[in-house]
Amino acid sequence: MPLYITSLGNPKPVIDAARTYGATVLCDVTNLVHAQKAADMGCDGFIAVSSGAGGHAGPYPMHVLVPMLQRAFPDKMVIAAGGIATGQQMASAMVLGAAGVSIGTRFIASTEATVSNEYKNAIVDYGMEDIVLTERISGTPCNIINTPVAQKMGYKQNWFERYLSKNPVPASISRCSYRCGV
Ligand SMILES: Cc1cc2nc3c(=O)[nH]c(=O)nc-3n(C[C@H](O)[C@H](O)[C@H](O)COP(=O)(O)O)c2cc1C
Repeated sequence: MPLYITSLGNPKPVIDAARTYGATVLCDVTNLVHAQKAADMGCDGFIAVSSGAGGHAGPYPMHVLVPMLQRAFPDKMVIAAGGIATGQQMASAMVLGAAGVSIGTRFIASTEATVSNEYKNAIVDYGMEDIVLTERISGTPCNIINTPVAQKMGYKQNWFERYLSKNPVPASISRCSYRCGV
């Protein structure tokens, strides 16, 4: 049976469609507020995206977020995500009560990944001290390698970008302006 994972935006259309044929939907969440919204819409569980996640990340460490979600939503499946790359880290997520883990960054350096060798080598060669959190890619905090491009782009939103990110109507324009490099 298919499994869908939702990120960003409203998961309702995916959940409603999945319900018609019994597919499972797990929603990326970074806090209890978003988890409550996804639960109200009928999701099957959550991907608990913690502060260690590559790319878009949440504010809370895995060791806080996973138990908090479990306590608040005992009937939902909780999958841990963020900074997991080894069996030891997987095991620690299970000890916390996660039903499984979702791994992203580690697989960028795999044979199957269709990215450049330079990107694969960067994933292997760079360490934790090379990672920075930036708000300037999509508005949502994002862990990236601190390349010269990242340094030039900067890490914090200015007041206007913050306003655009928080205002529900022009947020799409805001995201577009980031992508378009405006
Ligand atoms: C706001 C937000 C947006 C996300 N967008 C994506 C996405 O577009 N594609 C994706 O594969 N994962 C997406 N994720 C999931 C995380 O990137 C993923 O769980 C993370 O990379 C796992 O951590 P790791 O890379 O350290 O293993 C998103 C998460 C959040 C909170």
